[in-house]
Amino acid sequence: MADAQKDRMTVDSPAEGGTRSVSVIVPTYEEVKSLPALIERLDELRRCGWDLELIIVDDDSRDGTVELIGSLSHDWIRLIVRTEDRGLSTAVMTGLAEATHECLVVMDADLSHPPESIPAFVRALDDDADFVIGSRYVPGGSTEDGWGVLRWVNSKVATVMARPFTKAKDPMSGFLGLHGKTWRAASDLDPVGYKIGLELIVKCRCRKVTEVPIHFSTRRQGESKLTLKVQRDYLLHILRLARWKYPERSSFIPFAIVGASGIGIYAALLAILGGLFANVMSMDLVIVISILLTMCWNFALDRKLAFWWAREGQLGLQLLGFIAVCAIPVLVNFWITRTFAAQDQMATPLAGVIGAAIGSALGILFNWGVSRFFVFNR
Ligand code: GDD
Ligand code: MN
Repeated sequence: MADAQKDRMTVDSPAEGGTRSVSVIVPTYEEVKSLPALIERLDELRRCGWDLELIIVDDDSRDGTVELIGSLSHDWIRLIVRTEDRGLSTAVMTGLAEATHECLVVMDADLSHPPESIPAFVRALDDDADFVIGSRYVPGGSTEDGWGVLRWVNSKVATVMARPFTKAKDPMSGFLGLHGKTWRAASDLDPVGYKIGLELIVKCRCRKVTEVPIHFSTRRQGESKLTLKVQRDYLLHILRLARWKYPERSSFIPFAIVGASGIGIYAALLAILGGLFANVMSMDLVIVISILLTMCWNFALDRKLAFWWAREGQLGLQLLGFIAVCAIPVLVNFWITRTFAAQDQMATPLAGVIGAAIGSALGILFNWGVSRFFVFNR
C-alpha cells in the first residue's frame, strides 16, 4: 500500500453518547504548504459528525499562513500568531489554553500524524485514559521508511532516557490527547525543549497512558526543525523532570559522584602541596590545607549539581556552613584511624584504610543529609 493511502484510513463517526467535540491544537512554523491538506483531512472528520475546532499557533512564520487561513474564512479554524516567546512547547501550551472543548488533541502540521486517528484518541479518553499518545512503537504502529540511521538512533536513545518517567513506548511523539481537566491540573509546567508530551505526562501526573498505533509519515513539504539545540534542550528537560519527580535521588547521586571526585582531588593536592612546600610547611598543615581546598571543590560542584535550588542563596554563608558540616566526619575519620592505630602499631595502614572507608561512606550520607537541610535548605 502506498504510504499516502495508508494514511487515509476510513474515518470513524462519533460514538452514540460519546464525546463529539474536540479541540485540535497544531503548532506551526513555516508550514503553509502542509496546511491545506491537513485542513482538508480534518474537514473530512467534521463531515463524519465530529465537532472540531482547529487552533493553529504560528510563530510568526510570515510564509503566507495568515493569508491562507484568512482566505479560507472557516469559522472552526482559529489562527494565533505569536511574535514573542517562540518555541514548540510554549506554542502548544498557548493552544491548549485557548481550547474551548474538553477533549484536547495536539498534532504536527506536516501530516506525519494522521488526523484519521483522532476518533481513536477520543475513544481512549472516553474509556479511562488520562493521556493518549499516537505511537509508532506499539503493535500496528509504524514509521515510514526513509528515516536515516542517525535519526532512528536518536529517537531510541531519547526514548530510553524517558523510561524513568513513563512506560510508554513512544513518549517522544508529538501526537497527544488529553482531557481539559488533566491539563488544568498540571503543576509547574516548564516547557523547555521539544517534548511537551513527556512534560505533560509527568507534570499532569497521568496514570493511564494509552498508546494508539499510528503510521508516522515522512513530511512531504517543508523541513524538520530537529536540530542540535533541540537535543541539548532535551537533556536539560530530562534533568529538570528528574529533579521534579525524584528530588532526593537527583540530589544524592550527583553529591556522591562529586564526593568521589573529591577523593581524587584530595590525593592530588596532598602530592602537589606536599612536594612543593615540603620545606616550608609541616605535613599536618599540608593536610589541613588540602582538606579545605577539597571542601571548596566539593562545595562549588555540589551547589550547582546537588543543591540546585539554593544557587541564589548567600555564597559565603553557605560555604562556611558546608565546611562546618563536612568537618565533622573528617574529625570522626581522624579519630577512628587514631584509635585503631593506637591499639596495634602493625595494623596502622590497614586501620587507616578501613577507618577512611567507613568514615567516607558515612561522611557522604551525613554531609548530604545535614547540608541539605541546614546549609542549602529550600
Ligand atoms: N509554533 C511553533 N514554534 N511550531 C513549531 C516550532 C516552533 O518553534 N518548531 C516546530 N514547530 C511545529 C512544526 O511546524 C510542526 O508542525 C511540528 O511543530 C513538529 O515539527 P517538525 O519539525 O515536523 O518535527 P519533527 O518532524 O522533527 O518531529 C516530529 O517527530 C517527533 C518524534 O520523533 C514531531 O512529530 C514531534 O512532535 C515528535 O515528537
Ligand atoms: Mn515533522
